[in-house]
Amino acid sequence: MSQNLSFVHRFGPATPPATIPLLLLHGTGGNEDDLLSLGRMIAPHSALLSPRGKVLENGMPRFFLRLAEGVFDEDDVRRRAHELADFVEEAGKAYGIASPIAVGYSNGANIAAAILLLRPQVLAGAVLLRAMTPLAHFEGGGLADKPVLILSGARDPIVPVENAARLAATLAQAGAAVERQTLPVGHELSQADVALARSWVDGRLVLVDT
Ligand code: MLT
Repeated sequence: MSQNLSFVHRFGPATPPATIPLLLLHGTGGNEDDLLSLGRMIAPHSALLSPRGKVLENGMPRFFLRLAEGVFDEDDVRRRAHELADFVEEAGKAYGIASPIAVGYSNGANIAAAILLLRPQVLAGAVLLRAMTPLAHFEGGGLADKPVLILSGARDPIVPVENAARLAATLAQAGAAVERQTLPVGHELSQADVALARSWVDGRLVLVDT
């Protein structure tokens, strides 16, 4: 039942008792199907909106360009964050859903962090799984107590621990209510991620009209 909108995407409607929607953002090489089952585990009754990144790196979908691993094209980060935020607003109207909580993994977490910084009003909050700082320098506010959960891996070979800590500090400085945990894992997701994300989202689920 997905409509023809500005991003290829999947939409899964809410079921009673309907709760705040989730925006699912996949990692490099993923697609719109990747995180649907994770979304259902985290919030079984929520509407799920899952777009496919428009940038291709050697055929692998991503949400923005990078110059090397961990080195981002920040002009593209900004442009793509606005483009994706526009899609979230477009889909909100098309499907009649409220501002979602973003659940992003890796590259998807990084674009979610960029949207939080640049277009905070589009998201109700975010779960950032293995996220990095998307913009080296950011000064601004506008996150007014927006809830953010950051789950990092202590042995993550892609995301240096201090980089994730810097992201947490940047978001907190911009006003977000940030919780961060470092798990004894690498870049891959673990059962602990699912359990922590689920209980964090559970505490923020607000019943919405369907
Ligand atoms: C990124 O490029 O966003 C990060 O390095 C994570 C990744 O996608 O590998």
